[in-house]
Amino acid sequence: MGRKADKRVDLKMPPGALHTYRRLLRYLKPHKAMFAVGVLGMTMFAATDAGWAAFVRFFLDGTFVEKDPRMVWLVPVALVGLFILRGLGDFMQTYCPGYVGRRIVKTLRGQIFDRYVHLPVSYFDRNASGVLLSKLTYNTEQVANATTESVTVFIRDSLTILGLIGYLLYLNPKLTLFSLIIGPLIAVLIRRINLLFRRYSRRIQNSMGDVTRVAKEAIEAPRVIRVFNAQDYEARMFDEVIEHNRRSHMKLMMTKGLSNPIVQTIAATGLAGVLYLATVDAIAGRMSVGEFTSFIAALMLITAPLRRLVNVAGPLQQGIAAAQSIFEILDTPPEHPGGQHRVPRARGEIQYRDVGFQYPSSADPVLHGIGFEARQGETVAIVGRSGSGKSTLVGLLPRFYDATSGQVLVDGVDVREFSLDALRAQMSLVSQDVVLFNDTIRSNIAFGHPADDAQIEAAARAARVTEFSEQYPLGLETVVGDRGALLSGGQRQRIAIARALLRNTPILILDEATSALDTELERQIQGQLEALMANRTTLVIAHRLSTVEKADRILVMDAGRVIESGTHQELLAHGGQYAVLHRLQFSE
Ligand SMILES: Nc1ncnc2c1ncn2[C@@H]1O[C@H](COP(=O)(O)OP(=O)(O)O)[C@@H](O)[C@H]1O
Ligand SMILES: [Mg+2]
Repeated sequence: MGRKADKRVDLKMPPGALHTYRRLLRYLKPHKAMFAVGVLGMTMFAATDAGWAAFVRFFLDGTFVEKDPRMVWLVPVALVGLFILRGLGDFMQTYCPGYVGRRIVKTLRGQIFDRYVHLPVSYFDRNASGVLLSKLTYNTEQVANATTESVTVFIRDSLTILGLIGYLLYLNPKLTLFSLIIGPLIAVLIRRINLLFRRYSRRIQNSMGDVTRVAKEAIEAPRVIRVFNAQDYEARMFDEVIEHNRRSHMKLMMTKGLSNPIVQTIAATGLAGVLYLATVDAIAGRMSVGEFTSFIAALMLITAPLRRLVNVAGPLQQGIAAAQSIFEILDTPPEHPGGQHRVPRARGEIQYRDVGFQYPSSADPVLHGIGFEARQGETVAIVGRSGSGKSTLVGLLPRFYDATSGQVLVDGVDVREFSLDALRAQMSLVSQDVVLFNDTIRSNIAFGHPADDAQIEAAARAARVTEFSEQYPLGLETVVGDRGALLSGGQRQRIAIARALLRNTPILILDEATSALDTELERQIQGQLEALMANRTTLVIAHRLSTVEKADRILVMDAGRVIESGTHQELLAHGGQYAVLHRLQFSE
């Protein structure tokens, strides 16, 4: 069969943290300059901490030991200078990384969205929409957080600590080296904590996806939930996911809560030792008051950034976990762009040659040995029980999925040889569930298609959209509400028909296009539909046989096979399944 390569199973392991860091860094690259200014701010901010410790010594020794009269004005000036530097640094370290972070969020959101609209249809069979939404909203925020606040803390506080250590070394190398012994111990600890943070963060993100998913389902189906009294059922489902979310959060809290005291206790023990040695030095007269106080001040000043550094591990690891899940999406291959074949306008001949199909997710084939042909301008109707494979069959034409065996051809060319956009430019689809966007009727008809107002209005009139849109004060400029909620099913369907009319493609697919219309309205719209079908090759799936009777050929499907085919008259004369269906319809 040779089509296995097309299944594109992604066997790649999730990339490691280091890989993710590096990849995130690439997003930082275009904003190098801005980020550098931010780092400069962090450096200034950090320098003021060491500066503060030095100031203590300068002030104490100058005032009390040397009794220098210049201290009277030097001290206040130095203090104000120190805080102006600190304030400037503070602004730069807040604004610049924030700027970079928001840019990165925008880029990531753009890329994820772009991927969402280009992923193969099958991707959405496997992934809940709520989870995908949550990646777009929640995970990107976490990446922003990690790349801005957390990175700021990380860089600034590392610098602060380095600065302070430098100053300590300058003051008293022996004492400093002793205090640094506990360094490696703390480093090992922080690493272990990081690992835990990342694990729990991933869990939280996954459960956030579940929270969005369940909530979204509930919000989108208010009627069903009420009429079935399913409130409790939904609430229980929701309770389950929020409980899981809470537990994962608590595990993170536990890690967070424990990490600080443990690190600080170790640090304090070390500090106690240092204090002991320093006191010995001071008593022996090897250290002045200023030096002693300044040394202890610097040591104390290290604890705050150290504490922040330990705490930042959480958000930083959350960001890494979030970035990993985002990169997973970005690494999922989009739809294959198809072959090279392009035509400005196809004639619109359709051929199915011995087509078999099986959904990647299902155990059994859904279509078997489907073969039929529709010549230019012909209408082929497909009827059959629900679940018999009708929608699947027509879905192979725009390549929502590819046939697992056999061939689908347009104008005698395998659909896989067409470039995907050129192929789809040849066809319009009107289906059962019309998706409208929260926009005006006019833009819903145009739907990105370059058309002038006159064309849109002509299409709206032909599809009888104007009939109801004129009743609104804003006419075609009326906004249809979320997913067209303000319109009836029939009105939505008419907008979809107008959309197809406007696109004017040689091939038309109607998948139960009129199912939302009542018989009366369907009869009224029949004329419009026939106008739409005229001069187009049409595959029409319909429940009501009146739509089907005039078709050039009718395929009767059952369990993925075509069990009868012919014209209305032929099939009636044949007295098979179609005849039975027909009789049922009339007795209705
Ligand atoms: N995305 C999917 N993944 C797996 N199985 C599917 C999917 N869509 C439909 N099916 C299955 O394929 C069969 C045919 O479905 P469909 O083509 O929608 O039938 P019809 O349009 O005739 O009602 C059904 O058994 C259905 O359960
Ligand atoms: Mg269907």
